Amino acid sequence: MPGRLQVRPLDEGDAEACGALLAARHRADRARLPHLEPALEDPGAAAEAVRHLLGRPGAGGAAAVRDGRIAGFCIGLRLAFSAADFASQFLPLRSAVVPVAGHAVASGEDATEVYRLLYASLAAAWVRDGVLVHRVHTVTGDREVEEAWVSLGFGRATTAGTRETVRPVDGAAATDIRVDQATPEDFAAVRRLSRELAAHHQGPPMFWPPVIEAGAALDGFLQASLAGPVPTFLAWQGDAAVGMQLFLVPGFTPEHVRQDQRLYLFEGVVSAAARGGGVGTAMLRASMAWAAANGYELCTLHWASGNYLGAPFWLGHGFVPVEHTMERRIDERALWGRAEPGHTG
Ligand SMILES: CC(C)(COP(=O)(O)OP(=O)(O)OC[C@H]1O[C@@H](n2cnc3c(N)ncnc32)[C@H](O)[C@@H]1OP(=O)(O)O)[C@@H](O)C(=O)NCCC(=O)NCCS
Repeated sequence: MPGRLQVRPLDEGDAEACGALLAARHRADRARLPHLEPALEDPGAAAEAVRHLLGRPGAGGAAAVRDGRIAGFCIGLRLAFSAADFASQFLPLRSAVVPVAGHAVASGEDATEVYRLLYASLAAAWVRDGVLVHRVHTVTGDREVEEAWVSLGFGRATTAGTRETVRPVDGAAATDIRVDQATPEDFAAVRRLSRELAAHHQGPPMFWPPVIEAGAALDGFLQASLAGPVPTFLAWQGDAAVGMQLFLVPGFTPEHVRQDQRLYLFEGVVSAAARGGGVGTAMLRASMAWAAANGYELCTLHWASGNYLGAPFWLGHGFVPVEHTMERRIDERALWGRAEPGHTG
């Protein structure tokens, strides 16, 4: 008869055991998704990834133990930045995230049972400190793990997808445009298209917040990207820039994707009036040809799961989902009463 699951804080001494669980999970993930990093299948490398996470600022971890062995673990990071920070455009201000290498469950264990206890332990400290937005990164296609987080109130926020750059880009491409690499002089056009992309995400059903305070940081980021070594492509219809694809290396490529192939498509947008006419397809054809010719075998990007234009476009053009960001927002009334006299919780 197996003993009961017990949860305790995770420490450096658990790194080897957690690494073994993570490596085993990653092996199974990689059997479904060949674009993932091979090195993480090695328990030593996975243990190093666990150690690295535990050493990051704001990190806290929990281990679920059954009969003296680790049945699962979870490491969360508290994110701290100001509204004026570039990151606030894309991430909730006061939030905690469990990265993709920050959780795994032993085979034979019930993922829902294990994650429920681990999350309860981590979330207790987060909510106590007013951190009410919680995120977890899961690898696509693992229904058991996804079910565990859904049962805890998490829903899908964004998806990362990866494609092989040499794959043909199917679909009808616009023929009345030219696609050029942007220069720093094109900043105004790039900024306008980037703002149009943000406006699209602020609409239904995504409803991303318009973070006015982050505007200057975003402009600085775009300027630095234009001056950097990785290109931004613009689609021109006569004198008008009608589309943009801005690339970064490594950008925000998830850490479980092949480490030697981290070309990242940060922003891809076509002006509202030009959408549906093959501009996006023409741009992707040009940018993927550039990528393949420059030694980039893979390209990765994120899209908002609810993006009714982006999701079908990328999925229809060869991007294979590799990671979901799942999010839960705790009702702020959970904090009510904490300062009341006599409250002992
Ligand atoms: C996603 C996006 C870049 C695609 O660019 P695009 O120039 O519209 O794409 P294309 O015309 O080449 O192809 C769009 C596909 O949707 C179809 N479509 C039909 N009506 C459409 C419409 N009103 N708008 C867009 N696409 C439409 C097209 O027929 C085409 O189908 P196909 O893949 O079978 O060929 C563009 O729609 C866009 O900028 N959307 C808003 C911003 C955004 O979501 N960006 C992605 C962020 S992750």
